[in-house]
Amino acid sequence: MKTLIDENRIQNRLKEIAEEIEKDFKGEKITFVCILKGAFMFLSDLVKKINKTDIVIDFMVVSSYGNETRSSGKIRILKDVEKDVTGDNVIIVEDIVDTGNTIDFLMKYFTNKGAKSIKVCTCLDKQVCRKVEVPVDYAGFVVGDEFVIGYGLDYCQEYRNLPYIAVMNE
Ligand code: IMP
Ligand code: MG
Repeated sequence: MKTLIDENRIQNRLKEIAEEIEKDFKGEKITFVCILKGAFMFLSDLVKKINKTDIVIDFMVVSSYGNETRSSGKIRILKDVEKDVTGDNVIIVEDIVDTGNTIDFLMKYFTNKGAKSIKVCTCLDKQVCRKVEVPVDYAGFVVGDEFVIGYGLDYCQEYRNLPYIAVMNE
């Protein structure tokens, strides 16, 4: 595999995103919803850099992929958030936005739950693969149509522990 984005670049970019979020919310409380498993590392590094506003963290497990490298488009909730998000400023934290199916589903889901605002924060944005138009408010890096692993992202559940992002070899 080939390194695409090294650890340093990731951490520097997260600092910028954290500042942007703090600026946008001006001290208003934020509910971060981390989409497991892929976003666990991104969420954990990001929230350590946020200190100007109160936050709460919750987790959701959704599945769309199975074990292949293409999205199936069908989203299933395997674990729901525990918090009542009615009236909350929700930031959905994703590892990567690909077709947009997952975010499209989650936007509707949190709208129905009565969130006050919903923003999308993703480590990676695979813009060229979008099938459904979704808002991406904070994106770490734009990537092309290639399968990436590391920094939370897996191939058949492996490689999530890499502190950098790499591209799988053919
Ligand atoms: P979407 O619903 O098609 O936008 O897919 C989003 C989900 O697909 C992400 O949360 C990832 O779990 C997974 N995914 C998409 N592209 C990749 C990739 O290149 N590597 C690893 N997982 C990916
Ligand atoms: Mg995911």
